[in-house]
Amino acid sequence: MTLIKNICCIGAGFVGGPTMAVMASKCPDLFFHVVDINKKRIEAWNNKDLSKLPVFEPGLKEIITRTRNKNLFFSNEIKNAVESADIIFISVNTPTKTRGLGAGKSSDLKWVEACARQVAEFSKGDTIVVEKSTLPVRTAEVIQKILNSLDSESQGDTDIKNFSVLSNPEFLAEGTAIEDLENPDRVLIGGEDKSAMLLLSQIYENWIPKEKILFTNIWSSELAKLTSNAFLAQRVSSINSISAICEVTGANIKEVSRAIGRDSRIGSKFLDSGPGFGGSCFKKDILNLVYLAEYFGLEEVAKFWEEVVNINNWHQKRIAKIVVKKLFGSISQKKIVILGFAFKANTNDTRESAAIRICKDLIEEGAELVIHDPKVNPLQIEIDLEMKQFTEIKNESIDNSNKNYGSWTFSNHLNIFDNAHAVLVLTEWEDYKNIKWFNVQKKMAKPAWVFDSRSIVDVDLVKESGINLWCLGDGSSKDEISYF
Ligand code: NAD
Ligand code: UGA
Repeated sequence: MTLIKNICCIGAGFVGGPTMAVMASKCPDLFFHVVDINKKRIEAWNNKDLSKLPVFEPGLKEIITRTRNKNLFFSNEIKNAVESADIIFISVNTPTKTRGLGAGKSSDLKWVEACARQVAEFSKGDTIVVEKSTLPVRTAEVIQKILNSLDSESQGDTDIKNFSVLSNPEFLAEGTAIEDLENPDRVLIGGEDKSAMLLLSQIYENWIPKEKILFTNIWSSELAKLTSNAFLAQRVSSINSISAICEVTGANIKEVSRAIGRDSRIGSKFLDSGPGFGGSCFKKDILNLVYLAEYFGLEEVAKFWEEVVNINNWHQKRIAKIVVKKLFGSISQKKIVILGFAFKANTNDTRESAAIRICKDLIEEGAELVIHDPKVNPLQIEIDLEMKQFTEIKNESIDNSNKNYGSWTFSNHLNIFDNAHAVLVLTEWEDYKNIKWFNVQKKMAKPAWVFDSRSIVDVDLVKESGINLWCLGDGSSKDEISYF
């Protein structure tokens, strides 16, 4: 195959949608068909009202405006898109298995397998199949086997099919997806078929300098993706563990981060302490690595990486405990304002957000939460908290047995501080940096508290307003410690 014209991407999610949109904008002569089994998602991608796109990413709307229905198409017509494709990206979900062999750790590959079967059935001629999803090492072998076996079943066809499977993992982070896709640190292409690798590389070369495109063997590419996420998550767990030491010793985590980040061997990125890492991938990918290590009998390696997840769970739990302790050991029927529910700023994604566990813990303690987030849909919060909003519960006149259990409501504006005992910042949205704490203080119940798990509020303004302030990892208000 020498000419690439049609690209198909199976999976119109957080990766498939933005990735193909950027590719389409950079390669105006190629046609990109993004397909999905989810009808609602495709409708949302095709919605004229760009505020209804299923993914919120800064810069995405503008790219969609330029490319959609020109050389970028979203549809549920999987068969048509696969049939005409020269390259097929598999960009479907690969969550942790919830039951059966490897449950709780290994990836559930049923969606990837379904894709391989669709490709084997519908494709024609020579096709390059690209793993874009994050996958366990040696998944390419599985995909190749499915493609070959189903293909040989249908050899009665006059059409001869040839498949080359490549690994091309995605390294974008949500909230900066467009920036990351337009100017990535590197593009990784793993495979054995050199000509297929070069054809894929030529697409990226439309906007990415050649020296940023790395070629590896296919297993290194698959493993590099898991390892990259494991290393990043490990940094977050490391800094969060040190934040707990700061709090008890009088040190300040921001100062510690700044000091260690100046060591060029360590580097300054990914050293912000927070409420614990969330997002759809860090936990899933580390557990996948743990499963792989266990499978090959590398128990010590497995334990090492599992601890990165364990300490993250512990860290998320400790935040709700601190709130309860500071509010005199009880938050029952106390109003607490939650600022931010997304797992990080600039995304509407809540998957594995620390806010989920923390809010559940506070509700369990009887708190009445008012949750604000500028982009998250309250219906998503309802799913995440497994509990309807308070107003609806009241209408259903729930009996007294639920009296001691807390509740939550959602607000999309920030006029929500009346009678609140505490404000808890969980996502680092820009809006929260500019809150007028002096005005807020007048409305809150006393003593009023601000708990800042992201170190973003204006410390001086909060203190001047008379509100008590707790900042994650800040032990500077610590009294003398009888330590020695
Ligand atoms: P997602 O859940 O947002 O999207 C996956 C989509 O695939 C869904 O819309 C689903 O309906 C569709 N799908 C599943 N099976 C299908 C099939 N057989 N045919 C057609 N459509 C099908 O997931 P995501 O966040 O886009 O992640 C996709 C992959 O990329 C995962 O492996 C993830 O680990 C990896 N990844 C994600 C990110 C991220 O920031 N979210 C970054 C890098 C890599
Ligand atoms: C992460 C990686 O950064 C991407 O390279 C990778 O492609 C992606 O996972 C994936 O495979 O899905 P993402 O999860 O979107 O991207 O976002 P990150 O910026 O990595 O943040 C993850 C979590 O760590 C967030 O909850 C964030 O708040 C937290 N974090 C991050 C911190 O608490 N401190 C930091 O310094 C950095």
